[in-house]
Amino acid sequence: MAKEVKTIGVLTSGGDAPGMNAAIRAVVRTAINKGMKVKGIMRGYAGLLQEEIIDMESTNVSNIIYRGGTILYTARCMEFMTPEGQELGAEICRKHGIDGLVVIGGDGSFRGAGKLAALGVNTVGVPGTIDLDIACTDYTIGFDTAVNTAMEAIDRVRDTSTSHERCSIIEVMGRNAGYIALWCGIANGAEDILLPERYDGNEQALINRIIANRKAGKKHNIIINAEGIGHSTSMARRIEAATGIETRATILGYMQRGGTPTCKDRVYASIMGAKAATLLAEGRSNRLVAYKNGEYVDFDIQEALQMKKDIPDEQYEISKMLVR
Ligand code: ADP
Ligand code: F6P
Repeated sequence: MAKEVKTIGVLTSGGDAPGMNAAIRAVVRTAINKGMKVKGIMRGYAGLLQEEIIDMESTNVSNIIYRGGTILYTARCMEFMTPEGQELGAEICRKHGIDGLVVIGGDGSFRGAGKLAALGVNTVGVPGTIDLDIACTDYTIGFDTAVNTAMEAIDRVRDTSTSHERCSIIEVMGRNAGYIALWCGIANGAEDILLPERYDGNEQALINRIIANRKAGKKHNIIINAEGIGHSTSMARRIEAATGIETRATILGYMQRGGTPTCKDRVYASIMGAKAATLLAEGRSNRLVAYKNGEYVDFDIQEALQMKKDIPDEQYEISKMLVR
């Protein structure tokens, strides 16, 4: 029979995401409701190794559901990538009586959680990243807020771009993943979308489309460029030189990662956080909470990390078709 879980820990790791606070709140309150104690681990795995561990009561998570960022702070930690760092992390969990750990983060954070699970600390991951790039789940905490923030910002750039009859390259976040770019491309009616998963580097083809659009009477030309392709400023200079059309670059940057979470992010994060604490209460370990085909489910961490995710061809083709 699984050992009774008396105390769980919760940490946030990797890039922060709006809705992480809602997930923390759900973990803490679900655990307390199920008779467990909760410890908050500050600054992800870095804080674990530094033993930055605090007791968390229900009141510690009051008034946070609407706040962006993470009250536990987040960090990246090289030491935890080593077997020695992971051993130390597991030892610190044991020292503090932490029988189970909820890790809210992305792929890298789940790799760390898998290592702790192998060392005997029960772990459950909750997908928190604005990039939507975790294969086993259709939803990641923060994507909805980030994509709405980016969409609103792009609408504003579009207004001024139209007034000045300019071409605009707008860079959105996503180092390896183009989901924010794809969704904004569709939602903002962008003339072109450059995704790390798809872009072939053919700038001349892009220039030809801009010229054709101008001939067809388009007053602006919005190109959404994902961070993973980058170089928006130099690209704008080259496009202006080649087309004779004034071209500006706007890099939206970290404003996409902050801000008050949308209703969707708050609700999904609450359900996922509650599910994570429940799994630990049941003595489960090495699981990743996910939202798949309309249901909240959980996967083995290693199996989940082996799954592959790509931009859906249909969505990409539709995004292109709707602006021609
Ligand atoms: P994300 O979780 O958003 O993908 P990172 O890839 O930066 O962000 O990972 C966050 C942290 O998770 C890293 O700083 C490191 O401490 C830990 N981590 C990442 N990969 C591994 C790994 N292979 N083994 C152990 N820990 C890892
Ligand atoms: O949170 C995801 C993400 O925003 C990626 O799109 C981006 O590549 C990365 O984080 C950048 O994070 P940082 O600059 O904090 O390392």
